[in-house]
Amino acid sequence: MQDYDTKVVAITGAANGLGKEIARRFAGAGATLALADIDAENLEALRVELVGNGVEVITSTFDVRSVDDMEEFARRTFAAYGAVDIFFNNAGVISVGTIWEQPLADWDWLLDVNVKGVVHGIKAFVPRMIAQDTACHVVTTSSIAGLLTVENSPAYVASKFASLSLTEVLDLQLQGVGAKVTAHVVCPAVVQTDLDNCLRHRDPSSYDADDPYYRTEDYLARFAVVTRSMPAGLPVGDAVDVIVEGIENGTFYILTHPMYNPAITGRTAAIVAGVRPALVTR
Ligand SMILES: NC(=O)c1ccc[n+]([C@@H]2O[C@H](COP(=O)([O-])OP(=O)(O)OC[C@H]3O[C@@H](n4cnc5c(N)ncnc54)[C@H](O)[C@@H]3O)[C@@H](O)[C@H]2O)c1
Repeated sequence: MQDYDTKVVAITGAANGLGKEIARRFAGAGATLALADIDAENLEALRVELVGNGVEVITSTFDVRSVDDMEEFARRTFAAYGAVDIFFNNAGVISVGTIWEQPLADWDWLLDVNVKGVVHGIKAFVPRMIAQDTACHVVTTSSIAGLLTVENSPAYVASKFASLSLTEVLDLQLQGVGAKVTAHVVCPAVVQTDLDNCLRHRDPSSYDADDPYYRTEDYLARFAVVTRSMPAGLPVGDAVDVIVEGIENGTFYILTHPMYNPAITGRTAAIVAGVRPALVTR
């Protein structure tokens, strides 16, 4: 890993999982950090740990669904440090269900966090990063579910296709204006994180927790697929190794699980051939 002694790294979704490991990794390489999350308790625990290791860090607790709070996070970060070298647009959540049964409130919540949250991050950070006029990076955490469809979690898949495609467009637009900012998109398959616990910080006003749908066999079985898969995922440190290497090498599509590469090329071939998606049973 390169030396990040004079560098500033900002991360959303920094209190757990990939964001926390990214924070620790860049802190270990000397970076100054600006960390955001909705999870105040774990964000504070990370802040205390990092400060104890001599790291300069500011933290902001907010929901990425709020563009005003994201703007304030960027304003504070630039006021404190003057520039951002890498911005990780990383916060995300998952939900499951059939498209025709899943409450619309789930769609609103998930798309607001996973898609509009990413747009909020771009709107708040990218103009400032363009203006600073130094080589820097904006990194979206999409998913393998932004490249391949699975039937278990439609809103998640739709959100990750959206965040991947909007990052492609972001990179085109940055090229178009001759900016020194480069975009990257991270596409992990399963990684051992806290993603299956994402409901714990869901704004209670964003849904009806008593909706009988959340007690149906189908919903519970689908959620169990997510929970069961997590311990078998890639250790988070291994995923972050690939992410750091990808950014340092100038890789746009950062793929942490090469075993899915044949499926990605297979998908493209199937599209051109007009072939129906194949159902993989849970
Ligand atoms: N873990 C996986 O298998 C996996 C695979 C592919 C992609 N991803 C993506 O990686 C990213 C990080 O997730 P993770 O796996 O580390 O899960 P995680 O739950 O461990 O971390 C996600 C963090 O985002 C925060 N967060 C959630 N909603 C938020 C909101 N509205 N506002 C602010 N912060 C919020 C959470 O509190 C948490 O700290 C997500 O975008 C996720 O979709 C994860």
